Amino acid sequence: MIGRFEGKVALVAGGAHAAKGDLMGFGGVAAWEILKGGGKVVIGDLDDAAGEKSAQQMRDDGFQAHYVHLDVTDESQWAGAVSKATSEFGSLNILIDLAGTIDRGSIEGVEVDSWKLTMDVTNMGMFLGVRAVAPPMREAGGGSIVLISSMAAKLASDYAAGYATSRAGMTHFARAAAVQLGADNIRVNTVLPGWTVTPFTQSVLEDAAGTEWRNRRVPLGRWATAAEIANGILFLASDDASYVTGSELLMDGGTTAWWGPGPD
Ligand SMILES: NC(=O)c1ccc[n+]([C@@H]2O[C@H](COP(=O)([O-])OP(=O)(O)OC[C@H]3O[C@@H](n4cnc5c(N)ncnc54)[C@H](O)[C@@H]3O)[C@@H](O)[C@H]2O)c1
Repeated sequence: MIGRFEGKVALVAGGAHAAKGDLMGFGGVAAWEILKGGGKVVIGDLDDAAGEKSAQQMRDDGFQAHYVHLDVTDESQWAGAVSKATSEFGSLNILIDLAGTIDRGSIEGVEVDSWKLTMDVTNMGMFLGVRAVAPPMREAGGGSIVLISSMAAKLASDYAAGYATSRAGMTHFARAAAVQLGADNIRVNTVLPGWTVTPFTQSVLEDAAGTEWRNRRVPLGRWATAAEIANGILFLASDDASYVTGSELLMDGGTTAWWGPGPD
């Protein structure tokens, strides 16, 4: 049987947390599924130890995978990651951009440097990433770009205005990229996860009361697993979504559909 990702080469930016035995991010879970589906993977991240360990495990299991250091805010490092994919595997068909930082400050409380970092990693990162992968995807006859936003793109809060604003920027940028790259058969979509158990949320999960409040705030009554969010990423990355571009996939257990609890 031909796998869903047979012959496809994917760059997973921010996908270092993919080692078996460690808690995986949804990029890590998605990377393994692409490999099992017949694809090849290049992981790019700042976390070299985690990324090298993950890629080594993948190769030990007989898959074709590499790790490359990638700071998504640096244009030359995007060029290096794309070149790693095309030189090792011959083409590039899929980009999944998951790089993200946590910013929990209020508008008046946040440090300007923290705000800039959030915007840079999310918004500069996606811009440089799409620019870097468009030429090889065009050459390959098309491709799929999946930008990982957040349900925070839809909700305002008393904290993390920078994080939420950067995530909303991602959804609109994906529409612009979908329009500009559609003629090249390059699809661009966003996934908007809700609260999910991953390395990214470890500090939040350590707060039992905050975790329980979030459980009550989600109509499905619980956090997502990384595998549940990866399912949506994989759908958009694959040819199953061949007519889907410029869209947002909300995967939040119903959280943004709800005002929240009533007065009693
Ligand atoms: N876990 C959640 O509840 C949740 C919910 C909504 C959105 N998200 C978003 O999903 C994405 C993936 O997160 P995850 O939960 O799978 O956790 P994760 O920690 O596995 O993924 C985030 C990765 O981004 C990398 N990163 C940070 N800055 C970078 C940079 N400048 N260049 C390259 N890589 C960089 C980190 O090293 C890390 O590996 C993040 O962008 C996060 O904001 C997470």
